[in-house]
Amino acid sequence: MIQMDGNLIIRNAAELVTVSGFAGKKGSAMADLGVVRNGAVVVERGTITRVGSTDEVLGGLDPARYSVIDATGKAVLPGFVDAHTHFVFGGFRAEEFSFRLRGMSYMEIMQRGGGIASSVEATRSTTKDQLIASGKKRLDRMLSFGVTTVEGKSGYGLDRETEIKQLEVMKVLDATHPIDIARTFLGAHAVPKEYRGDPDRYVDYLIRDVLPEIGRLNLAQFCDVFCEKGVFDLAQSRRLLDAARSFGLAPKLHADELTPLGGAELAAELGAVSADHLLYASEEGIARMAARDVVAVLLPATAFTLKEPYAPARSMIDRGCAVALATDFNPGSCFSESIPLIFALATLYMGMTPEEAVTACTLNGAAALGRAETIGSLDAGKQGDLIILEFPSYLFIPYHVGVNCVEKVVKRGKVVYDSETEPRRGSESCL
Ligand code: NIG
Ligand code: FE
Repeated sequence: MIQMDGNLIIRNAAELVTVSGFAGKKGSAMADLGVVRNGAVVVERGTITRVGSTDEVLGGLDPARYSVIDATGKAVLPGFVDAHTHFVFGGFRAEEFSFRLRGMSYMEIMQRGGGIASSVEATRSTTKDQLIASGKKRLDRMLSFGVTTVEGKSGYGLDRETEIKQLEVMKVLDATHPIDIARTFLGAHAVPKEYRGDPDRYVDYLIRDVLPEIGRLNLAQFCDVFCEKGVFDLAQSRRLLDAARSFGLAPKLHADELTPLGGAELAAELGAVSADHLLYASEEGIARMAARDVVAVLLPATAFTLKEPYAPARSMIDRGCAVALATDFNPGSCFSESIPLIFALATLYMGMTPEEAVTACTLNGAAALGRAETIGSLDAGKQGDLIILEFPSYLFIPYHVGVNCVEKVVKRGKVVYDSETEPRRGSESCL
């Protein structure tokens, strides 16, 4: 019998961490990882077909039809879903980071014309091919950390041409790189210099001239907005996200990141897929998000590098929210693709347990992208996206602090990264 592409058996896993489920897990359910000891998983033509103990699962299968990996002494988990990044951009902002280390705030830098505006200048003048090349490098690094699906935002163009360029770059990378990419239109990331002081007129421009084109070209699944004091207020955010919905883009928000503005409440009112950051979210806003099934996407590495307080993950989970964790990889507030850093901060500083952190980086990340039915857990019927650790338990991820534990990454049943044959990226200590 000929071995089919995307046919894979992984057997004898010390722990098969299934995270089993087809929707985001809320509150106490986040602790349930559905771990199977001496587990096995079967993938056929890229789709998971069997999951369970090695004895149960392998009965009646002809191993000659499959690639077989023996995972003795290793843990197997769903691939990580990084549900919030801004990974397509030109230029870097290392100097700005050094200003922040000397005491200047993120907003002060932005108000002086630096920050996002400087990435906008650089991205406008970078060619599509150059953005594809740098984007690929970043995705390669993410893959080595076990990320099999990533969300990417535009927002460094702030004009029709460059916003479309960023989204097209992601479309090309989605088709050519093993990582799947969910695309988000973030035209309302900042007010560009052409509309300085007039955010309403800029929102008018986005609604009239940009959104219809993004919708027509099917370039994004989501529309996001930086809803923040001094950037876009609640009314402007609501207006944009309502219009986006009419073009088929589901709402997301950068909410309550630097000030308590009521972003969490707005996310609940709009029935957004997710509200992200939430460092200053109110108790009321959190309760409303839980009631409306808005996923709280928390970005601890951003709070860490901005020296801001961490989002109240513990109280969100205790109030029944579905919490996801993501890197927020971007050239300004968080220049890091590191999943080990996210686990370290979430468990050591945000009161999340290792189990909750695993759910937050897998199934709940998938839920934040509206993909919980197809990725984020090891369940029959889902895409065969998974990772094999070099250690026997998921507990090693936070315990081996700041270090990458991922040995192999499997996408749709094929090994797409193997630390034993490729030089390991990002394995250096991160803290
Ligand atoms: O998620 N807050 C707005 N956007 C990004 C930062 C983007 C940048 O500084 O370039 C964030 O933190
Ligand atoms: Fe962000």
